[in-house]
Amino acid sequence: MKILAPSILSADFKKLGEEIAAVVDAGAQYIHIDVMDGIFVPSISFGMPVIKAVRDVTDKVFDVHLMISEPDRYIGDFAACGADIITVHAEACLHLDRTVEFIHSLGKKAGVALNPATGLGVLDYVLEKVDMVLLMSVNPGFGGQKYIPYCTQKIRQMRKMIEERGLNTRIEVDGGINLSTAEEVLEAGADILVAGSAVFGGEPARRTAEFVDLMRKY
Ligand code: DX5
Ligand code: ZN
Repeated sequence: MKILAPSILSADFKKLGEEIAAVVDAGAQYIHIDVMDGIFVPSISFGMPVIKAVRDVTDKVFDVHLMISEPDRYIGDFAACGADIITVHAEACLHLDRTVEFIHSLGKKAGVALNPATGLGVLDYVLEKVDMVLLMSVNPGFGGQKYIPYCTQKIRQMRKMIEERGLNTRIEVDGGINLSTAEEVLEAGADILVAGSAVFGGEPARRTAEFVDLMRKY
């Protein structure tokens, strides 16, 4: 089943809890949480206290996307504040294998994210250990950017690699997803779609329902 993961980066932070409850009621299965440190990416978003504050709003999967340098420093904290999936960028990890093992040792699912220009080859040896691959389809750092077209081909190649190895690894695609780009991305083999501005830029519940409806066809 295809999964929608609304990114709260584009939510109205004045009423974050209510907005999360609204998208969950409308059918969102994951909540995508973008953590930015101002070093790995140009912007700073939010961190552990915010995640902890909204953890009791829902028991849906908290899909935490760490856009931070040397994420090992904080993985324990994110596990403790309620993350279910912890995704690190391959570009931010000197010892990716060790980081993936560390996330698993805390009883959490491990995701590895790749920037648009990063080749799939960095996953060659570690893929069997990874629960989810997050393919960025914009350069990370901000919501509301345009989908980079060459990413579709990358999603197809990732799907092929997973199938050839007979794995169950999920593919999440993040950046520039709206009701028009979603179909191309789903056809290419994505399992999980992140949508920030496309969900929270309008009426979040209605937008979520529209996505869920579209995704049912795949
Ligand atoms: C971008 C973040 C995304 C962002 C997506 O750096 O990783 O999750 O919220 O925003 P949209 O869907 O607006 O492109
Ligand atoms: Zn993200």
